[in-house]
Amino acid sequence: MPCRRRSGTGRRPHVKRPSEKIQEMTTTAQQNHLVALFKAATVIPVLTIERIQDAVPLAQALVAGGIRTLEVTLRTSIAIEAARAIMAEVPEAVVGIGTILNPADFTRVEKLGVAFGISPGLTPDLLKAATDSSLPFAPGIATASELMLALSYGFDVAKFFPAEQAGGIKGLRSLGGPFPNVRFCPTGGVGEANAATWLAEPNVVAVGGSWLCPTAEIRAGNWAGITAICQRTLKALKGA
Ligand code: 3PG
Repeated sequence: MPCRRRSGTGRRPHVKRPSEKIQEMTTTAQQNHLVALFKAATVIPVLTIERIQDAVPLAQALVAGGIRTLEVTLRTSIAIEAARAIMAEVPEAVVGIGTILNPADFTRVEKLGVAFGISPGLTPDLLKAATDSSLPFAPGIATASELMLALSYGFDVAKFFPAEQAGGIKGLRSLGGPFPNVRFCPTGGVGEANAATWLAEPNVVAVGGSWLCPTAEIRAGNWAGITAICQRTLKALKGA
């Protein structure tokens, strides 16, 4: 059962306790903060860091290319350590954590002091953990029903994933009909060629993806190449 937005049971309407109101305001403020953070970022690299020694030079390369907001995914065993290293050594970077899959992940991430959390999907347990936390969080959705579940817990900023495969821009526009107030960060199949098209949608606050930090370039330590991709992307977006 969602811990907020409860409509009550039986004939007696549910009256919110003061603590629930505070929680609701806090969550709204968190969602607004997340929107501001995403809008400032515009494009968010989705990082899969395999070797701890790559973390800092990779973040430095992205920052040098004009990209400060980074999503370090929990796809590798050193992800948390990598995020810590970036936060300690690259102060310009705004570090978030992605691929948060369950409440245990959420708890680990919360302790890190990162700027935000993202998930490719959602579960009631994960949403409950996120509502109990002050960490700005965007659950992942691909369908109307998943979005309704997110909204029932107060989350109106969502990752649309996998964006291209789940209907692309037409799919997102369809969701915009019944859910006009939801803001999205599409990821999955977004890249240099279509980032501007996604960002032109009124309900898109940022886009994310791995195209800014290809695995091959990270493995090769091609930091200058990654900086160049970032610069090219931002230049193209400015001109769009
Ligand atoms: C994500 O977790 O957001 C996606 O894996 C990114 O998708 P992409 O690799 O197609 O950019």
